[in-house]
Amino acid sequence: MDKKLKIILFNILFIAVCAGIFLFLWNAPPETTRKIPHDEDHLRFVEMKKKAAEKFCGDCHGEKGVYPLPETHPPKYRCLFCHKRK
Ligand code: HEC
Ligand code: HEC
Repeated sequence: MDKKLKIILFNILFIAVCAGIFLFLWNAPPETTRKIPHDEDHLRFVEMKKKAAEKFCGDCHGEKGVYPLPETHPPKYRCLFCHKRK
């Protein structure tokens, strides 16, 4: 094949792949995981460092807490990576 044609074809392929990735990310579903409630129980965590705040979640959301997590809850490591605060 002609060298120039090859380069053009590779460029088209590259652009097509980029467009594909872009569309894939563009169509990603919106974030649906619930944020932490903005109530007295949770307000103090908003200003804290994430790691520091997460030490307290278990007090209420642990097995013996007032609001234990359902058994179907996804892996619980680092609560605030999934449950956004704002
Ligand atoms: C003082 C007890 C307490 C602490 C500490 C606490 N929670 Fe909660 N949390 C509750 C209670 C009670 C509810 C249910 C009532 C409500 O929605 O406010 C709840 C509800 C939630 C919900 C569900 C919101 C919804 O829309 O159903 C999430 C998510 C949550 N907490 C995350 C966290 C995270 C993350 C932490 C640690 C940073 C945390 N909580 C610390 C008591 C607490
Ligand atoms: C990997 C992501 C992830 C992590 C980490 C995570 N959660 Fe969740 N959590 C979810 C999803 C998904 C749901 C269910 C869908 C929803 O309602 O947002 C949920 C639901 C909840 C609920 C509501 C339960 C109900 O049905 O009433 C609470 C409370 C909660 N999580 C607290 C926590 C706490 C506390 C931690 C840390 C110990 C934590 N989560 C860590 C993703 C996560």
